[in-house]
Amino acid sequence: MTRHLITSALPYINGVKHLGNLIGSMLPADAYARYLRARGEDVLFICATDEHGTPAELAAKEADQSPAEFCAEAHDMQKSMYDEFGLSFDHFGRTSSAQNAELTQQFARTLHANGFIEERSTRQVFSIADDRFLPDRYIVGTCPHCGYDRARGDQCENCTRLLDPTDLIEPRSAVSGSTALEVRETKHLYLLQSKLQDEVEGWINLAGDAWPHLATSIARKWIAEGLRDRAITRDLEWGVPVPDDTWPELAADGKVFYVWFDAPIGYLAATKEWSDAEPAARDWKSWWHDADSVYHTEFMGKDNVPFHTVMFPATILGTREPWTMVGNVKSFSWLTYYGGKFSTSQHIGIFMRDALDLLPADYWRYFLLANAPESDDVSFTWELFAAQVNKDLADVLGNFVNRVLTFSHKRFGDQLPAGHEPGEAERELGGQLQEMLREYESCLTATQFRKAAHVLRTMWSLGNEYVNDKAPWVQVKTDEDAAALTLRTAANLIYLFGMISEPFIPTTALALRAIWGTPVAEPMDNQFPDEKAVQRLDWLPAGTKFTVPGVLFRKISDDNVAAWRSQFGPDAESCLR
Ligand code: MF3
Ligand code: ZN
Repeated sequence: MTRHLITSALPYINGVKHLGNLIGSMLPADAYARYLRARGEDVLFICATDEHGTPAELAAKEADQSPAEFCAEAHDMQKSMYDEFGLSFDHFGRTSSAQNAELTQQFARTLHANGFIEERSTRQVFSIADDRFLPDRYIVGTCPHCGYDRARGDQCENCTRLLDPTDLIEPRSAVSGSTALEVRETKHLYLLQSKLQDEVEGWINLAGDAWPHLATSIARKWIAEGLRDRAITRDLEWGVPVPDDTWPELAADGKVFYVWFDAPIGYLAATKEWSDAEPAARDWKSWWHDADSVYHTEFMGKDNVPFHTVMFPATILGTREPWTMVGNVKSFSWLTYYGGKFSTSQHIGIFMRDALDLLPADYWRYFLLANAPESDDVSFTWELFAAQVNKDLADVLGNFVNRVLTFSHKRFGDQLPAGHEPGEAERELGGQLQEMLREYESCLTATQFRKAAHVLRTMWSLGNEYVNDKAPWVQVKTDEDAAALTLRTAANLIYLFGMISEPFIPTTALALRAIWGTPVAEPMDNQFPDEKAVQRLDWLPAGTKFTVPGVLFRKISDDNVAAWRSQFGPDAESCLR
């Protein structure tokens, strides 16, 4: 049986995470993992914080912490926020782990032994006061284009032009502010990707068939431009050190691997963290090494596609070892905020913490997955969010559950009534649902979340239509048994919704399964209904006890929308420039 390895792009340790980050990788990966688990598949869902690199080191400096302290705190903060969003990682690791250092060094040694890594001399800015080489971002100065006096050596934040450190006027060190800089010769490791061009291209031609168009088009564009050899080391304190058994001189110089070299290896390392926690029961290598039956699905934003379809595959191919290569590269365009970019620095858009402070996770999960930017960019607006929450969640699903159970409780007490045997209407309903379930599952299997959400919403509506047509509040006046059948059938629909809504709204789905006097398992394992059972709609027999739940989803008012627009934009103070 195929085993499903699912990974989400590893979120950077620094920076505030917004809803675009969530829908661009972690959330769809979670929906997919939950679906496959509920289908009884063998699933391993892995993620981690991506902790190395200049931005992390700079963020730590700004927070007056060591990088290790800063990252440990930020990791815990992210982890608890992702828990609140219901992201069901089997393990959420860290690229600063010992496992990642070890695997990254091992990959580098193997690539070197196979002739794919070379030491080259380059000229780089050295700060005499700091006694170190400075990465481009560590050099600041005046932008030659716009005169902004805090432009970085790689880019001017003000006019967004890309820069070279030597373009800056009055360059100085971002570490100490010292202007005593000089250009010195130094050595770095280069990954000879050019030698792997043909192999990567051949692999993309085969593997790319399984990817969505967004991913293949980006991969092909990169490969057409030609793979260039890339420096894979940097002069930073914080990173995986170059191993001194292989490159003693570089190791003594304090060189570390470039973050994009160690981060994807972090997928393997985080799996090893998971397995090291319970070595008797888990075997990370069975997922990654010589793992024939494993299908790896990666989720990521489109900016990550080149690294996952070209660079990391080149790294793996260069080892000449049988590491698991990706099967599907599920990639996403951008979620925008009223058509503009989410911006951390200008605080435009909605950040994950703020979102959870406003409303529970299921509201966000449903809306984001139903509007996932699977092909084009999608614009978040409060108006659209309110309209969809109110209609789909509050009216179609929530209100259905409440009115059915409230009425049943009022007329027949706290057990499901018996009434007539199912008739033509129930058989027809079962048949429609059976067909829709098939479509829903084929969308989920194909990682098509917008379509899947659409089918799910249609199934919820069918429940409403059935009850509206039957009108048990009218039936009860002339034929109690007919009303009883309607209510018992509707109760079974609620039970069905509790099973199939799990990937989208796990907390609510669990609540829907917890209404009944039969115990339910969490996390949901192997509980998706089979098609035949859907045709019968009889999981809950007459006599099943139930409790009427409180309001499942509250409506978002126009006042809420106005308040949130002014708190988060587009009417916020900070956005009026
Ligand atoms: N941290 C990167 C980003 O947020 C993603 C890294 S994915 C990995 O864009 F595989 F390289 F880890
Ligand atoms: Zn500028």
